[in-house]
Amino acid sequence: MALRLQDVTKSYGQLVAVDHLSIEVPEGICLGLLGPNGAGKSTTMRMLTGQVRANSGTIEVRGIPVPKESKRARAVMGVVPQIDNLDIELTCEENLVFWAALEGVPRRDRRKAIAQSLAMVGLADRAEMKVGALSGGMRRRLLIARGLVHDPHLVLLDEPTVGLDPQVRAEIWSIVDRLRSEGSTILMSTHYIEEAERLADDVVIMANGRIIARGSPRDLILNHAGETAIEFYGPPQRLTEIEEAIGKHPMRRTGPSISLLRAEAAPTAVLDVLGPGTSRQANLEDVFVLLTGAEPE
Ligand SMILES: Nc1ncnc2c1ncn2[C@@H]1O[C@H](COP(=O)(O)OP(=O)(O)OP(=O)(O)O)[C@@H](O)[C@H]1O
Ligand SMILES: [Mg+2]
Repeated sequence: MALRLQDVTKSYGQLVAVDHLSIEVPEGICLGLLGPNGAGKSTTMRMLTGQVRANSGTIEVRGIPVPKESKRARAVMGVVPQIDNLDIELTCEENLVFWAALEGVPRRDRRKAIAQSLAMVGLADRAEMKVGALSGGMRRRLLIARGLVHDPHLVLLDEPTVGLDPQVRAEIWSIVDRLRSEGSTILMSTHYIEEAERLADDVVIMANGRIIARGSPRDLILNHAGETAIEFYGPPQRLTEIEEAIGKHPMRRTGPSISLLRAEAAPTAVLDVLGPGTSRQANLEDVFVLLTGAEPE
């Protein structure tokens, strides 16, 4: 196993951030970690890196016990944290030089490794610029370059694409996709459900520190939302009527619309009452909303 958490709990005073969590991530897969704000995703990642200590349970990274041997575990991982801790007084290149040394990239290979990772995120022309002068999205990209500078085959990405423009987000997707096709193991949290649907082999949905569902995107969709959804739009009064007509059948209410999920299995009587709607494929976002009750950001 690349990553193993067994019955792990982390509390902050009365607040249980991670609650008897067990997750195994086999080598070579991309596991998407989804969950509303405060679900415990970052805390889980920070326990894997040894930055946060669990109250109980066991954690292993490629068989290396954490936190007992955090240093050794850290050395086999690339980490992109949710909260940017770049040094704004240093240039992009200087930040990476420091990090590459920390990650044990041999001195003679550093220059090349740094140039490659800056180029990978489209920041080659910013090497000399101080981090404080970068745009928000560029800082995010630098953080990704830093996490990958030592060419790790096990990567933890905590919301890697937050705040990136659609073009750059797609570029990051292709980086993640390439890492995966090269056989790397990836644990990635995200609020962009579509991102998990595209990239993840397997998805864990967390809420309140616990796992509420795990499976491939396809299986999760089929098991919880079915094949087809039908969307209905209308004024609030009409939506309330629709909600009543749907009754106990799975559905999703989102602002101005209601989606009838698993429409292929809805009783004809219900469909007749509802009248015409817009048909679409059920997706992972439907599952997320259905299971967590929260709309993604
Ligand atoms: N250092 C800390 N001290 C106190 N409470 C904390 C600390 N770190 C996290 N928490 C709490 O633990 C819970 C889980 O937080 P965590 O950051 O793991 O959530 P998350 O799933 O990453 O959320 P988000 O999507 O907002 O990043 C939250 O209620 C948070 O307030
Ligand atoms: Mg987080």
